[in-house]
Amino acid sequence: MTEGAVRWVAWVPGMAAPRLLYVCGLSGDIQAVQVDRVRRAVKGAGREREGASMRLEGKTVLVTAAGQGIGRAIALAAAAEGARTIATDIAPEKLADMGGGIETHPLDVTDGAAVTAFAGRLGRVDALCNIAGFVHHGTILEATEAELDSAFDLNVKSMFRTIRAFLPGMMAAGRGSIVNMASVASNLKGVPFRAVYSTTKAAVIGMTRAVAADAISTGVRCNAIAPGTVQSPSLDERIATFDDPVQARRDFIARQPLGRLGTAEEIAALAVHLAADESAYTTGAVFIADGGITL
Ligand SMILES: NC(=O)c1ccc[n+]([C@@H]2O[C@H](COP(=O)([O-])OP(=O)(O)OC[C@H]3O[C@@H](n4cnc5c(N)ncnc54)[C@H](O)[C@@H]3O)[C@@H](O)[C@H]2O)c1
Repeated sequence: MTEGAVRWVAWVPGMAAPRLLYVCGLSGDIQAVQVDRVRRAVKGAGREREGASMRLEGKTVLVTAAGQGIGRAIALAAAAEGARTIATDIAPEKLADMGGGIETHPLDVTDGAAVTAFAGRLGRVDALCNIAGFVHHGTILEATEAELDSAFDLNVKSMFRTIRAFLPGMMAAGRGSIVNMASVASNLKGVPFRAVYSTTKAAVIGMTRAVAADAISTGVRCNAIAPGTVQSPSLDERIATFDDPVQARRDFIARQPLGRLGTAEEIAALAVHLAADESAYTTGAVFIADGGITL
């Protein structure tokens, strides 16, 4: 099993309500979780993998920006957990080799009409994972207003569009989970050369909590994930732009107290948890997975 994944390790019988214990691979914490369909989840005692694969069974999960990096890892993890998974990206060629029974569709989340039309064709989803985002490098003095507008369009307004398109269906069904990709570079931590990016990711967290509050009585949940630096193709591209890419990578790693970059799979494990019913009591939360940056 992937390092950092949530692992089912035991079923505790004899309680008023059945509970599963799991070890969170990120924190090492052992937590007890009540699961609605626990019998199905533990079907086939001793077959841990099958038990784990039931966590998103019967659910439809939509992922934006699933062509690479964290979005791709989330789509693969959702499919591995039994979800009907729809992977979208502005660059369809990046989706060509998704495999795993994953449905793929081109979708530019900065195109409001395309998002609305796509939602109309797809219908209701159980989980919406808003992953699209772009890192602008620079201080506020180095950024232009056009760059701020562009970053808001992709990092914030994209989620505004998709949530408005899919939330009504979730509310009508009385259930649903929205997972928004934020960052610790936001209101959570002042990070040098991330003025525009941090502004947009703070807005993502604000939107997440506002949507959670507005939807609280409808059965729909909305949470955010705030990663530290995670290995991804776009990180490699950013590092390649430095005069000394080797030193730049060392510097990225050095700012992570855990001494390494995160993996997309570790972030995907959180997204699966938030999409699944096991997190049914969690809404408006911001899950930080940052290698200790905000300690
Ligand atoms: N990688 C990190 O260190 C890190 C850290 C914190 C947060 N994040 C956030 O995680 C998310 C994913 O980052 P990543 O680095 O894993 O991925 P990435 O930047 O490597 O890939 C981004 C994907 O988004 C797609 N995309 C770009 N514009 C799009 C659009 N208009 N519509 C649809 N798709 C579009 C690209 O084709 C690409 O497949 C982003 O929101 C990012 O801000 C990343």
